Amino acid sequence: MSAPGTVSVAERIGRLGTETAFAVSAEANEWRSLGHTVYPFHLGDLDLPTPENIVEGAFRAIRDGKTGYCPNAGIPELREALAADIGASHGVAYGPENVAVQPGGKPVIEKFLLTLMDPGDEVLYPNPGFPIYESQIEFIGGVAKPYGFVPGEKNFLLDVDAVEAAITPRTKLVIFNNLHNPTGAESPPAEIEALAELTLKHDLCVLSDEAYWDIRYSGRSRSIASLPGMRERTVVLYTFSKKFAMTGWRLGAAIGPKALIAHIATLNVNQESCTAHFIQWAGVEALAGDQSGAEEILRVLEERRDVAVNLLNEIPGVTCFRPEATFYLFPNVTGLMERKGLATYDELRRAALEQTGVSFCTRLHFGRALPGEAQSYVRFAYSGIPVAEIREGLGRLKEWAQT
Ligand SMILES: Cc1ncc(COP(=O)(O)O)c(C=O)c1O
Repeated sequence: MSAPGTVSVAERIGRLGTETAFAVSAEANEWRSLGHTVYPFHLGDLDLPTPENIVEGAFRAIRDGKTGYCPNAGIPELREALAADIGASHGVAYGPENVAVQPGGKPVIEKFLLTLMDPGDEVLYPNPGFPIYESQIEFIGGVAKPYGFVPGEKNFLLDVDAVEAAITPRTKLVIFNNLHNPTGAESPPAEIEALAELTLKHDLCVLSDEAYWDIRYSGRSRSIASLPGMRERTVVLYTFSKKFAMTGWRLGAAIGPKALIAHIATLNVNQESCTAHFIQWAGVEALAGDQSGAEEILRVLEERRDVAVNLLNEIPGVTCFRPEATFYLFPNVTGLMERKGLATYDELRRAALEQTGVSFCTRLHFGRALPGEAQSYVRFAYSGIPVAEIREGLGRLKEWAQT
């Protein structure tokens, strides 16, 4: 029984996690409100506007009366456009029946788990990784089993042996985030093939979180869904958020086998009825219309990446890979913490904020440290900060590190 005046909440709500990056944001805003300059490297949002043709597409749809309910799985025009776009980029045959439109990419995580995971089922997921995976697995009653990354020559690599070692008879699902938040890592083809082989051998299904699929500066993205036998056991998480600077619009999709997509569409009926009707029309414009806005976003991000990577590597005690994708950097700061005599991530973060104004997330915002993890990492997002401020902020960080 709850104490008088208090309400007793459901047990499951205690298992729900959160995105602690938002707490870092709140602290940075509070520091700014005291009159200090803040260099916001903490949040994976963009400070760039949504391309004008997409904005106009939404206004046009509102004026045309696209303001009522629409089909639960999405308007046919958007489902068709997504099936064509993702089908072409993945080399996989998808039709509209393979697409369930969502209010953002994030809901795909929960709906994938609700569709496929029974209580007690084990789910492998990346750690460090997007914190919502662990939160949703545990909330829905599954067992969250993390797998890590190891530093390679050019970027982090998946610890495929650790993935295999973590598989038990209760393992049902794997969450695979390629291109990866927070490391910026991109799985080489051999790594994707090894993971696909494991999932086939152990009869697992995959959530392929491709939120950063088009945020890449050279080469091309590869999906596990494209490999033989994988289309039938993979759900792709697609989002308009990053590529088109549409984080606040809330538009994404689940793309996968028809039978699973039908269940996900039934979850849509139960949860939001439909994704906002006129926003779906903006999505049609984003995919089918002029692409110069998305190209410009990528150009700006690439310039920021180059400046940020170079400057981070000039800071004593910091080493950083140069990822070809995403808008995240995951520098090793073990040496910096030693130089400054800082014992914990929180001490580092607070000291950097208060003494330089530079705000960032640490490794612990992306999951609990794994056993044996000896090096320290932080995440810099360069999506929400212009080049001049990147130079200024990282210049201050360098000076601070040197003293
Ligand atoms: C790896 C990853 N997956 C999914 C999402 C969710 O994207 P959306 O904003 O479209 O819900 C994010 C957002 O930051 C992300 O980093």
